[in-house]
Amino acid sequence: MMGRLERAFNISDLRRLARKRLPRPIFDYIDGGADDEWTLKRNHDAFADYELLPDVLIDTSSIRSETTLFGQKIAWPLILSPTGLTRMFHDDAELAVARAAARHGLMYSLSTLGTTRLEALAESFAGPKAFQIYIFKDRGLTAEFIGRCREAGYHALMLTVDTPVAGNRERDRFNGLSIPPRLTLKSMLSFAMKPSWSLPALTGNKFDFANVSHKVDALAGRQMSLFDYIGGQFDRTLTWRDVEWLAKEWNGPLSIKGVMAPQDAKHAIASGATSIMISNHGGRQLDGAPAPVDQIAPIRDAIGDSGEIVCDGGIRRGSDVVKALALGANACSIGRPYLYGLAAGGEAGVHRALGLLHEEFERTMVLAGVNDVAKLERRHIRMRSWLS
Ligand code: FNR
Repeated sequence: MMGRLERAFNISDLRRLARKRLPRPIFDYIDGGADDEWTLKRNHDAFADYELLPDVLIDTSSIRSETTLFGQKIAWPLILSPTGLTRMFHDDAELAVARAAARHGLMYSLSTLGTTRLEALAESFAGPKAFQIYIFKDRGLTAEFIGRCREAGYHALMLTVDTPVAGNRERDRFNGLSIPPRLTLKSMLSFAMKPSWSLPALTGNKFDFANVSHKVDALAGRQMSLFDYIGGQFDRTLTWRDVEWLAKEWNGPLSIKGVMAPQDAKHAIASGATSIMISNHGGRQLDGAPAPVDQIAPIRDAIGDSGEIVCDGGIRRGSDVVKALALGANACSIGRPYLYGLAAGGEAGVHRALGLLHEEFERTMVLAGVNDVAKLERRHIRMRSWLS
C-alpha cells in the first residue's frame, strides 16, 4: 500500500498533509502572508503569464541539469531558502531539511533565526550551505556571525534586506501567535486537536533561536523576551554602505536577498555582492510588491553577466524553475514547498517535495526540447500579455 507521502503528487498535496498535521496557528505561520496576501498569491500566479515555447526533435535522452551557484556545484538549479523557527514545524528541524537537500545535491541556507546552531548544522552536513544573515543594530553580533560562519565552513552569506520591520501577518494576529505560544483556551484547543504535533512539543524546545540564544544571558534580569530582543534588532538605518562593509568583512560569495528593482540590483553588485536574490520574502513583508518572476528579465538586463540571479518565491512546480531560467535566472529558491514536506513527514517529506519538483523539472525540460540548463533562453518563453 502506498504511504501518505507517496500519495502526494505535487506540492499542493503536501500542503494539504501539512495542514492536517499542524495546529492551525502553526500552519498559518508557514502558509500566510502580509496584509491582503495579494503579493503572496501573485508570486505564484505570475508564472501562469508565461508560456513555454518548445523546440521539437531534439535529443533529450539525457538532460544536463548540474550548475554552479555561489561557487558551489548543485545537482539542478534549485536551492532551499532560509526559514526561521523551523523546529516549530517538525522536531527534526533544520537537520532534516539539510539532510534531504544533501540527498538531492542541493544547497541549504540556514536562517539567523533558525532553531539549530550553525556549527551543529555544518558538522552533520557536508553539502553546499549558505547562512542567511541580518545586519543587526548590534553590529558586533553580525561580525560574530561572519566569524562563526567562516570557521564552520559556510560557502556563502545571504543578506536579507526586506525586513526593516516585521510585515503585518494578520493570520498570526488573528490566531494570537506568539513565541513561545501563550496558552489560552483557544490555543490549547488547537494544540490538543493535533496530538502528533503537540505531544512531542511538550518535551522538545520548539522555540529556541539557537544561534542567538547566548544573548539570553545578556538579557537576564531585563523584562524582554528573546523574540522582542530580535524584533528590536532590525535596523532601519541600513544603507548600501553597510553592504560594502559586509562584503569586505566576508570576502566571499554574498547574495542580497530581497532585491526587487533593477536599480537596486546594480547597487548590490557595485557594493560587492556576487549575486541577487529577487525576493519579496514570499509575500510576508511588503504587500503590493510584484512577483519575483516578473523582475528577472529587467534585472538581468540591468546587471548583464556581472552577477548571479536567484528567483525566490512562488515556485510550486518544476516548470516554474524552467521558466525562471529561460527568463535569465541562474537558479530558483523555495521556502514553503519544503516546509510543507517537513511538516507532513520530516526528512522523508522534504525528500518527497524535492523529488516531485525535480521530476517535474526534468520532464518539463524534455517536453520543452532543451537538454541542458545552459541552453534555456528567452526565446523559449512567451509572455501572454505580448499577444494582446
Ligand atoms: C521565511 N523566510 C525567511 N527569510 C529570511 O531571510 N529569513 C528568515 O528567517 C525567514 N523565515 C521564514 C519563515 C517561514 C515560515 C517562511 C514561509 C518564510 C522567507 C523565505 O526565505 C523565502 O524568501 C520565501 O519562503 C520564498 O517564498 P515561497 O517559496 O515560500 O513561496
